Amino acid sequence: MTMCGKETVMLHLELAKELEDTNKVEAAKEYLLAAQALMDSVTKGDQEQVEMMANKLYDKAMLLQQPQQASPKFQSQSNEHAIQVQQQTTITQTKTQHYSKKKGITFADIGGLEELKNEINFKIIEPFRNPDLFTYYGKKAGGGILMYGPPGCGKTLIAKATANEADAQFLHIKASTLKSKYVGETEKNIDELFAKAREEPTIIFFDEFESLGQDRTNSMPHEKNFVAQLLTEIDGIESKDQQLLILAATNEPWSIDPALRREGRFGSTLFIPPPDQESRKSILELHLKNKPTKDINYDYLAEITEGYSGADLKSLCEKAIDSVLQESITTKNRRQITTDDLLRAKVKTKSVLKEWFKKARDQVKMRGLEESFPELFEYKLAKKTIAQVSA
Ligand SMILES: Nc1ncnc2c1ncn2[C@@H]1O[C@H](COP(=O)(O)OP(=O)(O)O)[C@@H](O)[C@H]1O
Ligand SMILES: [Mg+2]
Repeated sequence: MTMCGKETVMLHLELAKELEDTNKVEAAKEYLLAAQALMDSVTKGDQEQVEMMANKLYDKAMLLQQPQQASPKFQSQSNEHAIQVQQQTTITQTKTQHYSKKKGITFADIGGLEELKNEINFKIIEPFRNPDLFTYYGKKAGGGILMYGPPGCGKTLIAKATANEADAQFLHIKASTLKSKYVGETEKNIDELFAKAREEPTIIFFDEFESLGQDRTNSMPHEKNFVAQLLTEIDGIESKDQQLLILAATNEPWSIDPALRREGRFGSTLFIPPPDQESRKSILELHLKNKPTKDINYDYLAEITEGYSGADLKSLCEKAIDSVLQESITTKNRRQITTDDLLRAKVKTKSVLKEWFKKARDQVKMRGLEESFPELFEYKLAKKTIAQVSA
């Protein structure tokens, strides 16, 4: 260990000890920094010993943050240890962030998609609210539902709203956070996750599911374990008769492991379509609500934004608002947002939906999965919108 490294370690350790009684969070941070400084200072001769010390400090930090999370985190050959310390902290932080019940979003915040909301209401929300009624008719809450569809059309939004409407514990898991590069760590995360889910009626939401439930034929050996473990957990749900729903969302349904899509796992798939005209109108209205607007022709705007996702419409509104605001700064004159402002913003907002549908159809055909995702082929985007014709 170098002299300078040792001093940094000692400095953080002293701070950590001072803070331990008064501010556990800060103390934990100092222990992590000390562990990181230790790993930064490792030399060939003392590697094992230093790693052991760093692990002890890491454990100490974890104990201060959350008593149950102590386990060694530093491994040999790590020239990326600084990042690893950071990653571990973010994993812990993200977990606690997402393990919260109420997020505030409800169906009222989602424009249009009425049919879908009704379906979700019957399939998901009511079984959570009235388990007895559903048992009476031989049905039960829970199971797995895979939502798929183009990006920016409300999958994440719907999952959040669903949990709030169902008043269930909502565990929002981004695949990229759950998946750890430590061998075995991802499995441990999954373990903890399902243990937590068993405590009360829960919706686990796997966002960006394509990066988690990948087809095993194309993945690394330790990723195969992961899908297998997820399968075991899902298969276990039925037998334990628990109120647990697994929702997953993906823009790339074709890359999900077929075993995960089979009956009883994600047996049921739900296509989240691009917003239709009525929905586009509601989405535009939602995003301009409480903004200074004047005589907006929502019907016309909804008509000419065929092919725009909810996210595209949101960004269109933001652009219009920004341009009027910028203008007001220059002219020092507050004016209201008009249909024309939105039309100008539309020209600057491109949609990726057409491209997505083309790619999705190609991918699904290539794998012979047409029957699993029929909605992709039923959906028609108008070839030319009125605005494109007149432009
Ligand atoms: N139906 C909708 N109503 C209102 N806003 C929407 C709708 N669909 C998408 N949006 C907007 O687009 C953003 C992205 O949507 P999101 O749910 O993250 O899409 P996805 O998960 O399907 O990629 C949302 O945060 C929201 O602002
Ligand atoms: Mg999303």
